Amino acid sequence: MARPPGIDGDVYQAAQALITTRQNVSAKRLDDPGPSGAECDALLDLAAAAPDHGQLTPWRFVTIPAQLRHLLAEVFALALRDRDPDATPEQVQAARDKAHRAPLLLVAVARLGPREPDTPAQERLVSLGAAIQNMLLGAHAMGYGTGLTSGQAMRSPRLHALLDLAVGDHPVCCINIGTVRSHKPAGRVRPAPSAFSSTLVQAAPPPGIPNARSPTLRPCE
Ligand SMILES: Cc1cc2nc3c(=O)[nH]c(=O)nc-3n(C[C@H](O)[C@H](O)[C@H](O)COP(=O)(O)O)c2cc1C
Repeated sequence: MARPPGIDGDVYQAAQALITTRQNVSAKRLDDPGPSGAECDALLDLAAAAPDHGQLTPWRFVTIPAQLRHLLAEVFALALRDRDPDATPEQVQAARDKAHRAPLLLVAVARLGPREPDTPAQERLVSLGAAIQNMLLGAHAMGYGTGLTSGQAMRSPRLHALLDLAVGDHPVCCINIGTVRSHKPAGRVRPAPSAFSSTLVQAAPPPGIPNARSPTLRPCE
């Protein structure tokens, strides 16, 4: 089988190992050191390789440096109070803490506002997901742990304002990257392909309607 240009070695095995060993690491288990500046740049280069219908780059990644995490923490705390004025001080503190855990934290933002060409929102979100996955796999290959965090604060106007986002921009999740403090023994059991895939097959026409065609599905083999 021909290898993709510029790629040596057993690429499939390496890709399979990389992809299947990635697992979400709680930001609580991520410590220093995080990626260097050059490694951060390299990860963003990987994001740029995501499929992108219309080549809109329909996403942004906003790094929140350590010295400004308190601003994100304040947004998380106020967003919690906005939706739950009875939140306890402990709950508010827990919301704040989420901003301070990982050495590297980027907010992933989907850009869904009017653009030309007007690639549908769901395709732009697919592109964002691919960009995120490229970064997760790249960081995993560098030896770091990665975890995604989200929650209702992503939809808070306060976060929108902090990040100075445009109309149609939607924060989706935080990407947390750092050194894994303690590994968990095993990741989750991934679903079997038969649970989420099928093949379209053409059924015989029902009796009496010779031209009718009713497609049916059978699982992939
Ligand atoms: C957009 C997005 C947001 C997520 N937000 C959270 C979150 O807030 N908290 C969390 O524990 N995991 C979050 N996750 C991670 C998933 O829980 C995790 O990917 C899932 O459990 C599967 O585990 P795996 O990635 O190790 O295969 C998020 C994942 C995605 C794709």
